[in-house]
Amino acid sequence: MLVLESLLADFTQELKDIHKIADLLNLKAKYIGKQGPLADVMKNLKDATPEEKRTIGVRANELKQAIESLVGHKMQELELQEINAGLAISKIDVSLTDSVIEKGLQAAGYHPVTIVQQEIEDIFISMGFEVLDGPHIEDEYHNFEALNIPASHPARDMQDTFWFADKKHLLRTHTSTIQIRGMKERKPPFRFVGPGKVFRCERTDASHEMVFHQLEGMMVGEDVSVGNLIYFMKTLLSEIFKRDVEVRLRPGFFPFVEPGFELDIKCLICAGKGCSVCKQVGWVELLPCGLVHPNVLKAGGIDPEKHSGFAFGLGLDRLVMMKYGIDDIRYLHAGDLRFNSQFKSF
Ligand code: PHE
Repeated sequence: MLVLESLLADFTQELKDIHKIADLLNLKAKYIGKQGPLADVMKNLKDATPEEKRTIGVRANELKQAIESLVGHKMQELELQEINAGLAISKIDVSLTDSVIEKGLQAAGYHPVTIVQQEIEDIFISMGFEVLDGPHIEDEYHNFEALNIPASHPARDMQDTFWFADKKHLLRTHTSTIQIRGMKERKPPFRFVGPGKVFRCERTDASHEMVFHQLEGMMVGEDVSVGNLIYFMKTLLSEIFKRDVEVRLRPGFFPFVEPGFELDIKCLICAGKGCSVCKQVGWVELLPCGLVHPNVLKAGGIDPEKHSGFAFGLGLDRLVMMKYGIDDIRYLHAGDLRFNSQFKSF
């Protein structure tokens, strides 16, 4: 018993001088490891009376737990110290911009996709829309099922999906996932946009990338109609391009809208003559949209008898390309500073 009772005091005393994780682990082994005094006491118990076995056994266990808990706390403290020490070494002074410029080094700037995304967010905010976010890693339910795309539906082939090994999770193939999340969290009437990266396992060329950007939009209320949809889309495009753009509306099929449309704009790179961006047709598909399918409203907890809505999925990268006259989408992800620095800096 004597050894036992001084054990905790000795341990606490020695713990004070520990400043490294490795030393802490050694100290822990010294006291409660296989060769430690506590283990010795337990070994010697075999010669003790049943009464002694009980009291000493209980006490030994209490001490072991007390030491383990002290080690745990100290470990957290030391880990935090290590992180802080690492941060102190790698500290970056973000106020250095001016001196960096003086030295002739390049100042950072906004990526063109960020510039356009923020511009569009502002336009929508001014029209009373909220801006929502959603996860990149999604499940089948939010990406497909809730959007009226059941497992057997051919529309699943339209989107080449990056699946995770568990076959249940995926990288979202579109921002329409945000429709479902947004609807569930609010009651009509509401309107929101949801910008972000989307991922598709596609062969890349001048107009296709595996990672690109969309901005989802949704408005739900009583009597929301195609008229509302067209009004908001026209306002958006004239604000973005600050000039008249020619648009055309074609029927388009997406399982989560009915009726569905494709809104195209006359290619601003070649003025409709035909180029690599518009695949020589003179028009660029920019804005798939439509009235929200009743099944999708239901999945979002909304009664389709009482409310209707519109949704659209704006392709941000193509819009950026039109706006700045960029003829290959791959520039957007190449990370080439000569390209990136041509846009507005901080
Ligand atoms: N989610 C569709 C896509 O990525 C676009 C879309 C959004 C179509 C909303 C209609 C309504 O292709």
